[in-house]
Amino acid sequence: MKAMSEHDFISVRNLSKHFGPIKAVDDVSFDIRRGEFFSLLGPSGCGKTTLMRIIAGFQEATAGDVRIDGQPMGNIPPHARPVNMVFQNYAIFPHLTVQQNIAFGLRKERLPKQEMNRRVEEALEMIKLPGYGPRSANQLSGGQQQRIALARALVKRPKVLLLDEPLGALDKKLREQMQLELRDLQKSVGITFVFVTHDQEEAMTMSDRIAVMNEGRALEIGTPSQLYERPGSHFVADFLGSMNFFDGRIVGIENGAALVETKELGRVVINSSAAGIERDSNVVVAIRPENISVSTEPVKEGSNTLRGYVDTAAFLGDRSHLYVSVNDGHGKILTLVQNLGGEASRIGGQSGEVWLSWNEDAGILLPAKTR
Ligand SMILES: Nc1ncnc2c1ncn2[C@@H]1O[C@H](COP(=O)(O)OP(=O)(O)O)[C@@H](O)[C@H]1O
Ligand SMILES: [Mg+2]
Repeated sequence: MKAMSEHDFISVRNLSKHFGPIKAVDDVSFDIRRGEFFSLLGPSGCGKTTLMRIIAGFQEATAGDVRIDGQPMGNIPPHARPVNMVFQNYAIFPHLTVQQNIAFGLRKERLPKQEMNRRVEEALEMIKLPGYGPRSANQLSGGQQQRIALARALVKRPKVLLLDEPLGALDKKLREQMQLELRDLQKSVGITFVFVTHDQEEAMTMSDRIAVMNEGRALEIGTPSQLYERPGSHFVADFLGSMNFFDGRIVGIENGAALVETKELGRVVINSSAAGIERDSNVVVAIRPENISVSTEPVKEGSNTLRGYVDTAAFLGDRSHLYVSVNDGHGKILTLVQNLGGEASRIGGQSGEVWLSWNEDAGILLPAKTR
């Protein structure tokens, strides 16, 4: 078992939670640093909420343990833990004022009225709604109500805030605005945030580090750019952003580059310093659409160069997605063209011949899918 380092503020070790035959959380371990914005990202049903509820103390683990600031949480009831949780369906009391809603978070602390008012106003300033105390909660917009729910959690000054899809009920524009506000707030108050979302863009925008979960397991943990640029598994490569995948077999290795034979693209060359890559092993080649350059002029023959035809073009305004058929129709590649000076509408509009090329560093080698 790994020893806890002084940077590990929250330490989750071999945590499991079974509901009968369902392994909602399946042997998960990770460490969260003090002041970190840490996200649990994964599809619906992968165990995110269950994991949060165990950290908060609302649910007992089947096995494993959670430590916060070095202290084992096993026998500590929720209200005695240095954490507070904000839920997706934030329960604002509509018939109470904003002040009363936020003060509700302090009801157990029996503070003098003046101190209570001061703490509430301080929380209102954090969420940028100073002076809103006397207003009725049901007069607020959805975004403002969600901020009140946050203030109610912040007013207790927890060391850790657990947020379970807190922005899920908001529409897209407001959600994006709240993402940035929440991130700023977290940095300015310095509380450790554990944030749950199924939205990969949301996790990437906000987090210092992300744990990507699937079927109860934490598959990979890293910074957004590490996970996006160097995923180590098919699931993570697929879940973050868009990715092209091609099954292949390594037919040669030269100077750290792997020569991979694929049915769909023919032979491709991939720079790979990854250990354990062996000749004749089956692999999956992964290439991000934005790493493939698209030209309407013939490009010089070479490795990772293909002639193709645009099958479908989806114009998205700032960019287009082009589905290009290559290798005499054996392969199909998704590419992305930025709409610089009308480039994307020009290439997508003509539905003709194009040349694709990509750098030897652009491809990622993943283990072959085990079924
Ligand atoms: N109280 C429960 N009883 C039985 N199964 C549960 C219970 N809570 C969650 N589950 C199951 O555990 C799995 C993980 O659920 P959950 O943690 O809510 O996932 P997420 O929050 O990622 O959507 C799901 O299959 C869910 O149906
Ligand atoms: Mg959930």
